[in-house]
Amino acid sequence: MAAAPFSLDGKLALVTGAARGLGFVMAASLARARATVLLNGRDEARLAPAVEALRGEGLAVAPIVFDVADEAAVAAAFAAIERRDGRLDILVSNVGLRDRRPIGELSLGDMRRMLEVNLTAPFGLAKRAAALMLPRRWGRLILVTSIAGPLSRAGDAAYTAAKGGLAALTRSLAVEYGPHGITTNAIAPGFFATETNADRVADAEVRTFIERRVPLRRWGRPAEIGGAAVFLASEEASYVNGHVLTVDGGMSVSF
Ligand SMILES: NC(=O)c1ccc[n+]([C@@H]2O[C@H](COP(=O)([O-])OP(=O)(O)OC[C@H]3O[C@@H](n4cnc5c(N)ncnc54)[C@H](OP(=O)(O)O)[C@@H]3O)[C@@H](O)[C@H]2O)c1
Repeated sequence: MAAAPFSLDGKLALVTGAARGLGFVMAASLARARATVLLNGRDEARLAPAVEALRGEGLAVAPIVFDVADEAAVAAAFAAIERRDGRLDILVSNVGLRDRRPIGELSLGDMRRMLEVNLTAPFGLAKRAAALMLPRRWGRLILVTSIAGPLSRAGDAAYTAAKGGLAALTRSLAVEYGPHGITTNAIAPGFFATETNADRVADAEVRTFIERRVPLRRWGRPAEIGGAAVFLASEEASYVNGHVLTVDGGMSVSF
């Protein structure tokens, strides 16, 4: 019998930064679509409740602890995946760091750190993931960028530069790995009411801004990001390659 549409049955996925926020939602959505999912975070204790919650639903998930910006730790984690599973089918590179300061307050070191976590680390993760996908000629690389990439605002230069670079990297990975059966796409979230944004969600001024700027007149609910990840990871997206899928309630097409 053919698998149900969007089924990820039999696939092994890794989601970075999955202890909470959008990473947790995407990991949960992939697991509910029947993938086995490795949830990454830097801290075992912070990761444990996320893993337990999904196991409580009967889902196939496991923690994998490493800092995406620590090259040696990333290498060790991928070596462990290779030893244990011999493959990886889906990577969601979700970790992102933000530094909301004016350009005049950002040192070159601050800029390097932002590029390191937001751009260099996903490059390394995609490269290592692809190495585990190439032998089977099947893979899905999914990078999490942002509407702050094509769009910019004052006090966000380092993040915007890194996320814009990530969209460009998506295209480069797509053309280089496409001939080998691996697709690469990105998800660009708009304003999501995640834990990290709790202060902003509570801020009346930000609410007024969102209601004015976002055609759907509200923040994105974290659960609303999961479908994009499942779609891009699925067989149904087999001819989608090099695309940035914006999930922003229409904000970036409104003016
Ligand atoms: N939320 C939004 O509205 C929004 C909008 C546009 C784009 N995005 C993008 O979406 C992604 C997720 O955003 P979010 O707000 O859900 O994230 P978040 O809540 O800030 O962080 C998600 C997870 O990342 C982990 N993490 C942080 N640094 C890490 C590192 N160096 N290595 C491994 N894990 C790390 C954290 O766990 P530990 O601290 O336990 O390691 C945390 O659980 C980011 O790329 C962000 O730029 C978000």
